[in-house]
Amino acid sequence: MICHMAVRSNPVLRKISLAVWRAWRSWELSLHLSSVGASSGPGPWDRSEQLPSVCTEKPPHTPVMLKEVLHFLDIQPGQVVLDMTFGGGGHTKAILNMVPEVTVLALDRDPSANSLAQQLAKEHSGRVTPLLGRFSELEVLLSNMNVQPGSIDAVLLDAGCSSMQMDQAERGFSLSKDGPLDMRMDGERYLDMPCAADVVNTLDQQALASILTAYGEERHARKIASAIVKARRVNHITRTQQLASVVAGSFPAAVVYARKDRLHRPAHVATKTFQALRIFVNDELNELLAGLRAAQALLRPGGRLCTITFHSLEDRLVKRFLQGEDLSNLDQFHFGPKKQSTRREKLVEGNRDGGSVHWLPLRKKVITPEKDDVNENPRGRSSKLRAAQRLSHLI
Ligand SMILES: C[S@@+](CC[C@H](N)C(=O)[O-])C[C@H]1O[C@@H](n2cnc3c(N)ncnc32)[C@H](O)[C@@H]1O
Repeated sequence: MICHMAVRSNPVLRKISLAVWRAWRSWELSLHLSSVGASSGPGPWDRSEQLPSVCTEKPPHTPVMLKEVLHFLDIQPGQVVLDMTFGGGGHTKAILNMVPEVTVLALDRDPSANSLAQQLAKEHSGRVTPLLGRFSELEVLLSNMNVQPGSIDAVLLDAGCSSMQMDQAERGFSLSKDGPLDMRMDGERYLDMPCAADVVNTLDQQALASILTAYGEERHARKIASAIVKARRVNHITRTQQLASVVAGSFPAAVVYARKDRLHRPAHVATKTFQALRIFVNDELNELLAGLRAAQALLRPGGRLCTITFHSLEDRLVKRFLQGEDLSNLDQFHFGPKKQSTRREKLVEGNRDGGSVHWLPLRKKVITPEKDDVNENPRGRSSKLRAAQRLSHLI
């Protein structure tokens, strides 16, 4: 990728954490369920299913597509669930309240989410195990606790940022709240990990444009990168609103809010820039792949996975992983839309990510939130849920 050259030739860039650069390298098919040794599951998805009133308590992060997650994970009493993205604990709390004797392993890379998980562990003695770390660290964390591969019944991976992260100006994720341009989900855990300000003030114009194109799918990447480079010659860009104004300044005033989100509300022209920087800083695509691989290794045959993603890059990655595509070289992975192949072709082509097809989709098509849910929780408007079952044997 273009950025590699910029790094090699710039000693300052080489000092930027290697972790970030790894970002570059790196209706239900029930007919098939019996053939994979799976239970018949919870039956077809009925949007009108209601949650018991026990789930009405408002958590710090409103869980996205909660009904759908509970339906597809189909958790039974006494099972072991891995919540890979504990966040504000919305999904975990609902699982604990709804299924007796279930235990939850609650992972998050964010120390403040981990503190919430520890609090919840005290309230539900022996039922919640908080784990602080990234998806890529999960297998080691669990093997240190003697949790064996193939022993987990259900996994939830609800990617992206939590409302707590977005709402706290000092975390630097939000373009509508002024704060330091930070965006590190790990907080202060890794002192050598560059924050968003390091990225915008250090990378050359071409590298910045590549990040905006690759991770923001920003059509005006070059124009924005050029504006950033010009602005930082005058003053370092250290605040979120400073960056938002630099980006806005490169467009005519009339188009600053001309873009629309899925609810057709005006979206700031810097939204994609912020998304791209966040993905880059947190190495989110490599992490997502590591998370999917960990889920594949940890789930028992017949165990269920639900993923929730918030933009097309993530959703494509999940979709192709579940189809068994070889994603071993992410920087050569083409994130654009792909020619559709038939299910037979997919199986014959074989694997793909480690030898064979490991997953049976529980729903062929991606699931999106209901209109009412979106009105109630606009942050979930672009969410996409995929649900799949771990096959008991490879096909
Ligand atoms: C959308 S929030 C999850 C919200 C949660 N399901 C709830 O209902 O409150 C995503 C969470 O995943 C965490 N996260 C994102 N990437 C991660 C990674 N690679 N490893 C571990 N945690 C991650 C973030 O820190 C954030 O807290």
